[in-house]
Amino acid sequence: MRFHTRLLALAATVAMPLGAAQATELEVTHWWTSGGEAAAVAEFAKAFDATGNKWVDGAIAGGGGTARPVMISRITGGDPMGATQFNHGRQAEELIEAGLFVDLTELAEKENWKDVVNPPSLLDSCTLDGRIYCVPVNIHSPQWLWLSHKAFEDAGVPVPTNWDEYVAAVPALVEAGKVPLALGNQPWQSNLLFGAVQIAIGGIDLWKQVNLGKDAEAARSPEMAKVFQAMADAREMAEESNVQDWNQATNMVITGEAGGQIMGDWAQGEFQVANQVAGQDYSCLPGLGVHEYISTGGDAFYFPKLDDPEQTKAQLELASLMVSKPVQVAFNLKKGSLPIRGDVDLEAANDCMKKGLEILAAGRMLPSGDQVFSADTQTQFNDLMVEFMKDPSISAEDAQKRYADIVENAD
Ligand code: GAL
Repeated sequence: MRFHTRLLALAATVAMPLGAAQATELEVTHWWTSGGEAAAVAEFAKAFDATGNKWVDGAIAGGGGTARPVMISRITGGDPMGATQFNHGRQAEELIEAGLFVDLTELAEKENWKDVVNPPSLLDSCTLDGRIYCVPVNIHSPQWLWLSHKAFEDAGVPVPTNWDEYVAAVPALVEAGKVPLALGNQPWQSNLLFGAVQIAIGGIDLWKQVNLGKDAEAARSPEMAKVFQAMADAREMAEESNVQDWNQATNMVITGEAGGQIMGDWAQGEFQVANQVAGQDYSCLPGLGVHEYISTGGDAFYFPKLDDPEQTKAQLELASLMVSKPVQVAFNLKKGSLPIRGDVDLEAANDCMKKGLEILAAGRMLPSGDQVFSADTQTQFNDLMVEFMKDPSISAEDAQKRYADIVENAD
């Protein structure tokens, strides 16, 4: 019987036309399920399939908070996929330490990733003890305010150019029946909002003291109290926003039901799919129009070790492809993110992406929360911020105290 099966397999190989290798399937897991995200990930799939391999799409709905535990338990539980997304930074550090991922160092050296990838912190986040274990595919920054021109037009007030003008426009928006601020219920969205407000209201020095220096006194300071006060304003502005997913909130901005949304630059993908034009239908304000900084977070792909040498080969092909110039351009233009290399042609970038590229070129960058805090600490921030945003009985002072306690014990 065994012999018979082997004969059949041999016959199949012989019958194949010369040069047509058998497609190697790789299941790729990620949490890109919104319209813009799906359009972007399709670029990876298309490019991978064109190599003769086969992308088996393993999208997991519900966002990173839902997807990551599934991915981790599959990898640790002996059911690994061919490749998987994580945010670059520290989310996968324990899996790397456990030796569960393919070492990409040789490929990275052959292709000179060290010279190509910019800023270098992207590759540093993939590196442990001098070895490289992931491929950064983009730079995504969370601290953007997206504004609906229709909503402000309906309210009879100009489109704001910064956070203060936005807050001042709230009565007019409410009068016109608009939700001032769209915010979904996933915990990370509230923490993202906090990060953006912290940069805008608290400023860069305070941000560094708390996030890099893990300085709990700075977290308790009167300057930080102003940040929490602004969070309380944001809470009121978002009171009527009753959606779950981030892209549902973006859709409220697209339709003009909401004045704005604080969200990462992946929101651009949604405006694009809806055929909206930056500067015409919507505006984007990095750093909420106050401190124009971006952070160097984003997405990276990791390749769990598999037993099959053909699949290992396909994994390296996919890794190489993700860094390549044409794929970087095609993917990032749809994703709304910035490419990981400076030597690509981004003629087609829209106004918002151009702003991001300018900020990057000027070096106004900060590391992302995922780069500086452990996944555990990040979860504590997420939980606190969503609780605060959803429960008006929690005072700004109390939230600040709890925040400072987390900072004190952060790793
Ligand atoms: C982030 C990810 C982005 C974006 C977003 C919403 O974690 O870096 O690529 O897709 O989630 O799903």
